[in-house]
Formats: sequence, C-alpha cells, structure tokens
Amino acid sequence: MELDVRPVRPQDAPELADLLNQIIAHGGTTALEERFTPQALAEAYLTGTNVICCFVAINRASGRLEGFQTVGRDPSLPKDVGDIGTFARMGNVQRGVGSALFAATRVEARRQALVAINATIRADNAGGLAFYSRMGFADHTVRPGVPLKDGVLVDRIGKRYSLIPPPERAAECPDG
Ligand SMILES: CC(C)(COP(=O)(O)OP(=O)(O)OC[C@H]1O[C@@H](n2cnc3c(N)ncnc32)[C@H](O)[C@@H]1OP(=O)(O)O)[C@@H](O)C(=O)NCCC(=O)NCCS
Repeated sequence: MELDVRPVRPQDAPELADLLNQIIAHGGTTALEERFTPQALAEAYLTGTNVICCFVAINRASGRLEGFQTVGRDPSLPKDVGDIGTFARMGNVQRGVGSALFAATRVEARRQALVAINATIRADNAGGLAFYSRMGFADHTVRPGVPLKDGVLVDRIGKRYSLIPPPERAAECPDG
C-alpha cells in the first residue's frame, strides 16, 4: 500500500472518528473505551489546544485515510515530553501505516523542541507494545492494575522515545 503522510485537517475529523470508533468497538487494544464524535475527537487529538502535532496517512490509490498519529500535552508529563497515540485502520494493520506516521511525527516533535515522546499502552496490547518497541521506544514505567470500564484490571506500560541525539562516542570516551 502506497501512503502519503500530511498534517491533519479539520475536515478529516468525521473519517478519523469513524476509524477510531471501529477500533474502540472491537476492543482489546486501545485504552479508550468511549466512542468519539468528530467534534470531541478534533478537540482531544486532532486540532485542539493540547495537540502538539497530528499526522494522517492516506492511501495514495484510494484517497482513504488509513490512520492517524497524535502527540499532545499531558499534565502528568514534563512540558517538553509529548504523549503519543497511534491508530491504523482495522483490517489494515502491519502494512506500514504506523511507521510512516512516526517518521513524520519524530521530525515535527524535534522541530517543536520536545526532548522525548511518551507512549502509554495496555499491557495486554501485544501489537501496540511491539509497534512502539520497533519504533525505538524503551520501557519506562509500569502503572499496575488500572481498571477498564468493566472493572478488569490491566497494567499500563509507559514507553519513552528520546529525541535527544546520543552523545558522540568521542565525547563519551574522551580517552579513546
Ligand atoms: C499499533 C498500531 C498503531 C501499529 O500500526 P501499524 O500500521 O500496524 O504498524 P506498522 O505496519 O507500521 O508496523 C511497524 C513495525 O511494528 C511491528 N508491529 C506492528 N504491529 C505489530 C503486531 N501486532 N505484532 C507484532 N509486531 C507489530 C511491525 O511488524 C513493524 O515491524 P517491521 O518494520 O519489522 O515490519 C496498530 O496496530 C493499531 O492501530 N492498533 C490499534 C490501536 C492501538 O493499539 N494503538 C496503540 C496504542 S495508542
């Protein structure tokens, strides 16, 4: 699937709400459990005041939106650490949507002077954990036993991606 990636536009909200609501209705991956109206989604993740950046992936052949990735401010995180969420259209996962989006997000997050990106993933979301690990996120925190709507307790794994380039080897080992 050939993909184009661009910043989200206000008019994408209905299609993206539909895409996300399908993931929520299926269950078992995202920690989000309530359906979004296009307006609520736009405010929370697309174009609202707490959004740092949001990109969409478009199927070049059909023009359909195949996923989106948002980075926002979270009051529980330092100001220069963004909080990420990634959603690929159901039935079209593991076809490069998430990684295409992250290539754009990483550049924009650096441009906006973030030092790191946080991802919070349900411990039972094997695909989400594998995806962020593959993107270079490292394990950071575990919040044990966070209840879902039905009372089931699921740990939340915090992963971090550092946007600060590692020091040069020479600087690390001045004696050689
Ligand atoms: C997690 C998610 C965003 C990944 O998006 P994607 O478009 O499927 O990811 P990509 O195809 O770009 O995969 C990138 C890498 O991650 C790996 N990966 C992605 N999903 C995986 C899975 N379910 N199992 C194992 N590895 C996986 C891919 O194998 C790929 O590695 P590769 O480069 O070696 O091939 C997608 O599965 C999704 O929307 N899940 C539902 C919502 C969710 O859980 N979001 C995460 C929490 S916010």
